[in-house]
Amino acid sequence: MMLTVFSSFPASAQNSTLERPARNAHDLEQMVRQDCGSCHGMTFKGGLGSPLLPENIAHYSIDDLTTIILDGLPGTAMPPWRAIVTPDEAAWMARYLKTGDPE
Ligand code: HEC
Repeated sequence: MMLTVFSSFPASAQNSTLERPARNAHDLEQMVRQDCGSCHGMTFKGGLGSPLLPENIAHYSIDDLTTIILDGLPGTAMPPWRAIVTPDEAAWMARYLKTGDPE
């Protein structure tokens, strides 16, 4: 009985990871505001992390920001997000921060 329960668990856990549906714009916006906002401030005016308003990041290109999001800033509290978001999702976040209108 217990064997049946335990042997079926890993397969379903793995499937749900593989089949994670792509995040839509709404999900990504929520993520930027909540997950990034927890350090950078809910209105991106800074907190533990530096402010991320368009004028604060004007010197970065979209590619620079995408790389920072994917790899973090080693040696600082800015974590890498590569395990959590795809490169496309990171680029969406970069455009969102730069312009406030990623579409
Ligand atoms: C655990 C806290 C934390 C979280 C969560 C976090 N950051 Fe950061 N971030 C930092 C810190 C601290 C810095 C400043 C590093 C330094 O230069 O000292 C930083 C720096 C940055 C920079 C560079 C800013 C500059 O002016 O050089 C960008 C861009 C950035 N974060 C984007 C993001 C995005 C987008 C997210 C969400 C996907 C995010 N961060 C989530 C802590 C965090």
